[in-house]
Amino acid sequence: MTKKIAVLPGDGIGPEIVAQAVKVLQAMPELNIEMEEAAIGGAGYDTAGDPLPEATLKLARAADAVLLGAVGGPQYDKLDRPLRPERGLLRIRKELNLFANLRPALLYPELAESSSLKPEVVSGLDIMIVRELTGDVYFGQPRGIEVRNGERVGFNTMIYAESEVRRVARVAFDIAMKRGKKLCSVEKANVLECSELWKEVVLEVSKDYPEVELSHMYVDNAAMQLVKWPKQFDVIVTGNIFGDILSDQASMLSGSIGMLPSASLDQNNKGMYEPIHGSAPDIAGKNIANPLATILSAAMMLRYTFGDEANAKRIEAAVRKVLADGIRTADIYTAGTKKVSCSEMGDAVVAALKA
Ligand code: IPM
Ligand code: MG
Repeated sequence: MTKKIAVLPGDGIGPEIVAQAVKVLQAMPELNIEMEEAAIGGAGYDTAGDPLPEATLKLARAADAVLLGAVGGPQYDKLDRPLRPERGLLRIRKELNLFANLRPALLYPELAESSSLKPEVVSGLDIMIVRELTGDVYFGQPRGIEVRNGERVGFNTMIYAESEVRRVARVAFDIAMKRGKKLCSVEKANVLECSELWKEVVLEVSKDYPEVELSHMYVDNAAMQLVKWPKQFDVIVTGNIFGDILSDQASMLSGSIGMLPSASLDQNNKGMYEPIHGSAPDIAGKNIANPLATILSAAMMLRYTFGDEANAKRIEAAVRKVLADGIRTADIYTAGTKKVSCSEMGDAVVAALKA
């Protein structure tokens, strides 16, 4: 059976990094993958006047999985809010009901030197952040900017329904069961009602997972603990905005934000796969971006949507081999290693796959 993948390169470095992941997938013909490309983000606005063009959404709905690059760029910052690239990304997440965002942060031993933390603090690091992706202050109503008492006010609504908390908590507990059986739920229940409910619901769900050791942490403390002693964490589950922030922070533990893939899943493991980094307009078009997060996202696609653990591991092993061989893009370059371009990095991974 052929697997259908919608490929959405997006903006900035998106097209360059996605091309490398496509190259890797094409180097594995036994996967039987059929890929079709469409525009999203600023590219969607440029071609169809909409950051999520109808045709793109249709293609994504019909596909088994979506591979996405990144969206956004300074040239779009002045557009009306609904037309901005980020809205296209948020809408596709919502439209496809991709509520569970898996963001693994692991340190490849070869990159220990690229981390800003001491090697002993990060060596062997392997954390999975499960970020809720379709709720919270990202989507809550009311929201807006308006004039009150003669001055402008900006406002958003932090809101979670218990069903939303429950389903993402289940995903996180299930993942914890397959890993170290430790789950830390991160919120701000000392201040926010929304978090108070979050905590209560996670506690309820925990009754179905007696083997998992559950802990609760306020987000400010979690931010501190992540840099103090990150290896205390196995799986973290948290809401949309806290997860957005903590996953960027966690990415630095692993050396570069250019290394971290992600999976966004619905109830049936249909998924969208994207690097957690942005479109990096400052280096776009220069062929110097790190494509490994996108290539590793393709590996996650094989694992989570297609249940193909063996080939997911093959891609991950190829990435590890390339790093062990001292091949580096600029962001992870250290003295004594070999600096390569984005496309050369893609070629190196393909070569390692075939070796
Ligand atoms: C991410 C990004 C997005 C988010 C932006 C681009 C809308 O930061 O995927 O983490 O905030 O979710
Ligand atoms: Mg983010």
